[in-house]
Amino acid sequence: MNVYDSSRMADVVAPLGYESSETAADADLVILNTCHIREKATEKLFSELGRLRTLQKAKAEKGERMIVAVAGCVAQAEGAEIQRRAPYVDMVFGPQTYPQLPEMIARVTRGAGGILNTDFPVEPKFDALPQQEKTGISAFLSIQEGCDKFCAFCVVPYTRGAEYSRSIKAICEEAHLLIEKGAREITLLGQNVNAFHGMAEDGSVWGLGKLIHALAKIPNLKRLRYTTSHPSDMDAALIDAHRDVPSLMPFLHLPVQSGADPVLAAMNRKHKAADYLDLVGKLRAARPDLALSSDFIVGFPGETEADFAQTLDFVRTVGFAQAYSFKYSRRPGTPAAALPNQIPEEVKDARLHALQEILRDQQIKFNQSLVGKTLPVLFDDDGRHEGQIHGRSPFTQSTYIPLPPRGRDAIVGQELQVIITSARQNSLKGDLAIPLGGVRE
Ligand code: 5AD
Ligand code: SF4
Repeated sequence: MNVYDSSRMADVVAPLGYESSETAADADLVILNTCHIREKATEKLFSELGRLRTLQKAKAEKGERMIVAVAGCVAQAEGAEIQRRAPYVDMVFGPQTYPQLPEMIARVTRGAGGILNTDFPVEPKFDALPQQEKTGISAFLSIQEGCDKFCAFCVVPYTRGAEYSRSIKAICEEAHLLIEKGAREITLLGQNVNAFHGMAEDGSVWGLGKLIHALAKIPNLKRLRYTTSHPSDMDAALIDAHRDVPSLMPFLHLPVQSGADPVLAAMNRKHKAADYLDLVGKLRAARPDLALSSDFIVGFPGETEADFAQTLDFVRTVGFAQAYSFKYSRRPGTPAAALPNQIPEEVKDARLHALQEILRDQQIKFNQSLVGKTLPVLFDDDGRHEGQIHGRSPFTQSTYIPLPPRGRDAIVGQELQVIITSARQNSLKGDLAIPLGGVRE
């Protein structure tokens, strides 16, 4: 979501004459887009600001100006603190306000003082944004923002606000535009994307399953994905879409957070471990090759050794293709921050280590299970090394093949069958099953 927001901010300031610069030292405007989910991300902000202050001063000595801004969820949650600790920051603004960037920049340039903007404007943010300027082969399309789930550990409902779904018309128009500009894969974005309930022109309300069916009809749209989902919002229509829509990729990021019911209850997750297993059964029945990804938090307040052991068992039962795991981070203002029985750091470290070992093994095992198979790969860019080209498998792994003699442009944007020849933890290697043009080159 932050990658998407950053590129949208670039779109908003482009008409003012701003272009991307390679380094901060060259920039007239630097926006740090921030994440407030865990404490570590917040700490990074202040060290980064210190570095920018040096650049800002050096520019000032040459009579030039560098506007420094902090955007995103740390700005939303800790705006006044940022202004106090770093008074040289010209603008501090939350994730709902960046369509107003031109006005904010104008005010700073007029010397009207520092800006703190953490409003939740009445006009929905997405309606106030210009079209996406550029797109790669793989594009993001934000369809939903905010969250009403209030998991006890999470800041999102406070920083991003209440759940809001865009209209079907606006989403379909943006999807068509992205495809016209060259995108071949669209990832539908939202903090709680499967809670989507967008209004259609006839006044009916569509869920994500119905939206996916409609988008899949767009010519040249080869692949659809969505992220991130809550298990309680996986309805039958969405599960059926995994069975009925071939372009909906067989990969799902579905955070579970813990495999132990007492912890899930304390987290206010609104589902039990068995509900998740049941859901996985239904999803795999709908799409047998579905690969699963998840998020885990270890060391949530009150998590016992027995609870944690249940999480490990849970992971072994499901089998994940990949997953993200985090130590619980106490976020001021969230209900969990006030809970007794906070877990000591060294216990969290040990649990994280144990969990990550199992998840890493599962990821390697999953990737190795693909060796010898033929998979469709959507090629999108140069590879890491000279003479390679990069694409993504249906399960999102980076996949590298030797650059065909006809060159990059002959292959980028195409989805081609690749025989997988080797696998590592984070990537696959392979060869085209049918050489380009049908003749061996
Ligand atoms: N501490 C640790 N991890 C967290 N996440 C959200 N809030 C916290 C927190 N306070 C994790 C969850 C979520 C992911 C985006 O970040 O696993 O799914
Ligand atoms: Fe946060 Fe996700 Fe829970 Fe919403 S569903 S409160 S975004 S963890």
